[in-house]
Amino acid sequence: MMRKLMVAGNWKLHGNQAMLRQWLADFDAFDESLKGLDVALCVPYVYVPLLKAAAADSIITGAQDVSAHDTGAHTGEVSAKMLQDVGTQLVLIGHSERRQDHGESDDLVRAKFQQALAQGLMPVVCVGESQQQREQGEAFAVIERQLKAVIDLLNVDNAAQCFIAYEPIWAIGTGLTASAEQAQEVHQFIRSQLASKDVTMARQIRLLYGGSCKGSNAFELFSMPDVDGGLIGGASLTAEDFMAICQQAKKQLNKTQSS
Ligand code: PGA
Repeated sequence: MMRKLMVAGNWKLHGNQAMLRQWLADFDAFDESLKGLDVALCVPYVYVPLLKAAAADSIITGAQDVSAHDTGAHTGEVSAKMLQDVGTQLVLIGHSERRQDHGESDDLVRAKFQQALAQGLMPVVCVGESQQQREQGEAFAVIERQLKAVIDLLNVDNAAQCFIAYEPIWAIGTGLTASAEQAQEVHQFIRSQLASKDVTMARQIRLLYGGSCKGSNAFELFSMPDVDGGLIGGASLTAEDFMAICQQAKKQLNKTQSS
């Protein structure tokens, strides 16, 4: 089955209104037909309404986190319902920076995932091992554990709206990209884990690679059979760099369509 490629930007703690307006204008000005691709941008909460209002229809509005609660005395939290209320369509969950900086556990990731699903948001659950875990041969065990927290919530009805992003921590923001083969090996493992629950669901869900993905390595990564696009940090901060990755995804799409 053909899964639609997704290129999603993650601005992390960067940007301001002027930068976002400029980014959108520049992205538009490249005037590339990205038809056939899904393109998303995940901005800090406060910029979600601006993105929603200013983005061309071709960009999916994303946020970077969501509360595990739906309402109540939880100062500083933003609920899935609030995100949905301001037009958010997609949300990152359990990014390694949240797991590391805020001690987010697999249980918390699961609760956030449930909240996102309940409000019809597209959840992108991030998984990935640290350098030390990889060196100690624990990468697959770590990913299996992270996946286990959400796997029973996935089914054929929601799979097309859900994403798992494999982001090896050692590749995030370091310039050290996983090789296409390394990424494929883990993506294949993730898909086989999902398939042990439901083969059809596993075929539908899109698996994104993240970690120093850029215009120069995106094509190779996206050409792997189980890599369905990318989650892009640093290279999403300028429209030019981000478009370069989208173009590689488009090139990959054209190649598959003509073969
Ligand atoms: P990077 O970040 O592209 O800057 O490595 C990816 C991410 O953390 O989502």
